[in-house]
Amino acid sequence: MLPSDSFQLGTASEIPQGTQKVYTVKGKRIAVYNVQGEFYATEDICSHDGGPLAEGTLEAFEIECPRHGARFDIRTGQPQCMPALTSIRSYKVWVEDEIIYIKMEESH
Ligand code: FES
Repeated sequence: MLPSDSFQLGTASEIPQGTQKVYTVKGKRIAVYNVQGEFYATEDICSHDGGPLAEGTLEAFEIECPRHGARFDIRTGQPQCMPALTSIRSYKVWVEDEIIYIKMEESH
């Protein structure tokens, strides 16, 4: 049985290394990233002006917003440069039998 407030997202093979994919969970857009086989998740909304983060570029552990170039650490949600000043939410994700799961309670 899944821990409370946890949800099944999709399969690990849907997100090749170095890429990201958006899922909708409880009405929220969640970006899930694969960095060297490890999975991370943040909300898909830039804290600067609502940009769709998963449409941006992922470099190592940083996603760059496609709108004005703010970057966030996908492990913590913390902004790494202007114009973003506040963190985005990050979530705990894990893989079991190739299925990606997420816990919707905030990890930070
Ligand atoms: S909306 Fe993301 S940097 Fe402005």
